[in-house]
Amino acid sequence: MPVSISLSVNGRTFDVEVEPTEMLVNVLRERLGFVGTNKVCSQGICGACTVLLDGLATTSCLLLAAQADGCEVTTVEGLERDGELSVLQEAFLRHGAVQCGYCTPGFLMTATALLRNNGDPTRDEIVDGVRGNICRCTGYAKIVDAISSAAKTLRAAK
Ligand code: FES
Ligand code: FES
Repeated sequence: MPVSISLSVNGRTFDVEVEPTEMLVNVLRERLGFVGTNKVCSQGICGACTVLLDGLATTSCLLLAAQADGCEVTTVEGLERDGELSVLQEAFLRHGAVQCGYCTPGFLMTATALLRNNGDPTRDEIVDGVRGNICRCTGYAKIVDAISSAAKTLRAAK
């Protein structure tokens, strides 16, 4: 039997009926239209479906939508401000950290959470921080460069 939940997604509140077995990624993509959250493995392995749930990086393919009732969800669509890319998004573009793009939303969300917790991460801390995200294209170095560069830019802006 469907259950009613209320989600705040990128600052907008959505009241939605979900099946008890429905995963958050499916509700975000198929019901609410936040298709920037990619679904690849559906097994918690690749990290492509990562969103922020009350600020914590979370694989939305492993979380029942009903478990997110009352939570604040941020998807990749929520990173821009007033039509401007976030510092991290710009850094990914500048460093060539995006190729096919399947992994990119997940990396951006994981890295956003990482930089909120640690404004001056070492390369090892960045590598460790994104270990749950898989990229088949870039070889990871450009992604780590981009995150490190975004951290510097954010520190300089303080
Ligand atoms: S789609 Fe969720 S971890 Fe791969
Ligand atoms: S850019 Fe293709 S999987 Fe990462």
